[in-house]
Amino acid sequence: MAPLVEMKNISIAFGGVQAVDDVSISLEAGEVVGLLGHNGAGKSTLIKILSGAYKMDSGEIWIDGQKAQITSPRDARDYNIETIYQTLALADNLDAASNLFLGRELTTPLGFVDDDRMEAETRKIMARLNPNFKKLKEPVSALSGGQRQSVAIARAVYFNAKILIMDEPTAALGVHETAMVADLIQELKKQGLGIFLISHDTREMMELCDRVAVMKNGRMIGAERVEDVTEDDILSMIILGKNPKVAA
Ligand SMILES: Nc1ncnc2c1ncn2[C@@H]1O[C@H](COP(=O)(O)OP(=O)(O)OP(=O)(O)O)[C@@H](O)[C@H]1O
Ligand SMILES: [Mg+2]
Repeated sequence: MAPLVEMKNISIAFGGVQAVDDVSISLEAGEVVGLLGHNGAGKSTLIKILSGAYKMDSGEIWIDGQKAQITSPRDARDYNIETIYQTLALADNLDAASNLFLGRELTTPLGFVDDDRMEAETRKIMARLNPNFKKLKEPVSALSGGQRQSVAIARAVYFNAKILIMDEPTAALGVHETAMVADLIQELKKQGLGIFLISHDTREMMELCDRVAVMKNGRMIGAERVEDVTEDDILSMIILGKNPKVAA
């Protein structure tokens, strides 16, 4: 069976900077693939090509074995690709339900915004994803980082994301909150989503991911199953830009 996502020979330059240089990476349904690498390695740029925020100079994206045309965030959404950025695009003054359905509001047969149904749907999905979530009526500005993160994830899941991109979802979170997001990721994985996860925390990535891919200076150093590598292997890939698995 074809992988859920195949990014093949992707390149993009900004002025003189080759931000992503001939990078290939795949993602299976139910798989979490982590992207690691120093600041400026090209991680965010690579996933922004998949989410339609940037247009690649060359390369191909295949989804479910079909060549895909992704030139805008709207195209990405049509392929059921949803992105969750570290700086969450939530409307602070609105509650969880309004955020979940922002721009895609449910309406009554007469065309009015159906607040009751949106709240009921939000309750349902939060019960599944994060049963401890109780603050349905409060503006999301009153939520913790992890709770905000779960609203964003609920939004993606409700609208049938099959491919989820999470760029440093736990960077601003405390220990407890990070554990909550880790649980959510496991739940989404069980539901068959494919997830690209970016983080700087190598240990966390070894726990959460099936495979970790390391980038350096825009190039892909290697993508290895976590059970095949040690944390030291990963660190040397990040620092030296060499894959000990290939050199051996
Ligand atoms: N919109 C842009 N315009 C110009 N240069 C950019 C742009 N976006 C990224 N770059 C450059 O591309 C390179 C890769 O940046 P990118 O944000 O992908 O790195 P990253 O691996 O996500 O780093 P970090 O871990 O700091 O988030 C960097 O040299 C960066 O300065
Ligand atoms: Mg980044």
